[in-house]
Amino acid sequence: MDVHKIAVIPGDGGGPEVIREGVRVLEEAARLDGGFRFEFTWFPWGCGYYLKHGRMMEEDGISRLEKFDAIYLGAVGYPGVPDHISLWDLLLTIRKSFDQYVNLRPITLLKGAPCPLKDVRREDIDMLFVRENSEGEYAGSGSWLFKGKPNEVVIQDGVFSRTGCERIIRYAFELARERKKSLTSISKANALNYSMVFWDQIFEEVSREYPDVETHSYLVDAASMLMVKDPRRFEIVVTSNLFGDILTDLGAAIAGGMGLAAGANLNPERIYPSMFEPIHGSAPDIAGQGKANPLAAIWSASQMLDFFGHEDMGSRVLSAIEAVLEEGSVLTPDLGGTATTSQTADRVLAKLCG
Ligand code: NAI
Ligand code: MG
Repeated sequence: MDVHKIAVIPGDGGGPEVIREGVRVLEEAARLDGGFRFEFTWFPWGCGYYLKHGRMMEEDGISRLEKFDAIYLGAVGYPGVPDHISLWDLLLTIRKSFDQYVNLRPITLLKGAPCPLKDVRREDIDMLFVRENSEGEYAGSGSWLFKGKPNEVVIQDGVFSRTGCERIIRYAFELARERKKSLTSISKANALNYSMVFWDQIFEEVSREYPDVETHSYLVDAASMLMVKDPRRFEIVVTSNLFGDILTDLGAAIAGGMGLAAGANLNPERIYPSMFEPIHGSAPDIAGQGKANPLAAIWSASQMLDFFGHEDMGSRVLSAIEAVLEEGSVLTPDLGGTATTSQTADRVLAKLCG
């Protein structure tokens, strides 16, 4: 029997509340399948850990995580610890150390999910964002000169390497070819006259290897307008780290909200563990009240099943989420219901088994 060893980092606030439910769903999926099982190891890292130990994770955290097949993360960040510390010392360190250069974020309007757009049918919102996840605007390169002085200057670099751009764009083309979908590149070459001119050039170069894939290119400002006005234009989308971060929150807003937005941080070569997480944060405003929507965390668990090659089970989990949304009677407050986090997950489990 296949054993998948998973490092679970529930994190802060609503993170542990939703991850607990995702783990239950993964266990149930393994039981139903019968051909594989999970072994979960829990790590108590995050802001609570930081306040006790002065760091977000243990010093040898990365080498401990390296031994796992995947990481399942809730969210990190909480009032009391500056966000740039919580994000960099844990989330971004993991993404970078394990070269998880692909951030896969589905923006799909499931049946029953609320949509704030008028005259949009469910089939009109079905995109898959391929966000560059290792460099770009989040490379962490820059300087802070004359700190605290009147002539203070900060410089934040955007780092775009040929290797980095080529591999993410090629990954997106492969997906588009495999799924017979169009590929849209989102950039901003009119204003970012080095990084984005380079990005567009590489997109153009790689596209020559994929004459069968229909391509489109938009500037990021126009793309954000079009995602609202005409979302059906977008199928597979490839973009930089920062643009992908922002546009997928916009995507979440048109496809049911943050409680339904899932993401996978992949190291496609499988040299290192990949990481699966809902894209929302720790939701401090509702933490500890049983109000957090577990569906995004469960959706990212289904991405994990896909990544391990259990696509049948992955799509069964996604269908169970959709069935709960369509039924509409057991939903958390963000989706207009009164159910708790665990009641919602119970309903998903019931659909999964039913
Ligand atoms: P957030 O995503 O935590 O919350 C934004 C809004 O969405 C809030 O109103 C919240 O209640 C709602 N929301 C989020 N997740 C929800 C869920 N599962 N169910 C129902 N409603 C949900 O973003 P915010 O407030 O900007 O950040 C809070 C903390 O989380 C910060 O410390 C931030 O740095 C961190 N963060 C961490 C991320 C990660 O670990 N991947 C991603 C984004 C933020
Ligand atoms: Mg974000």
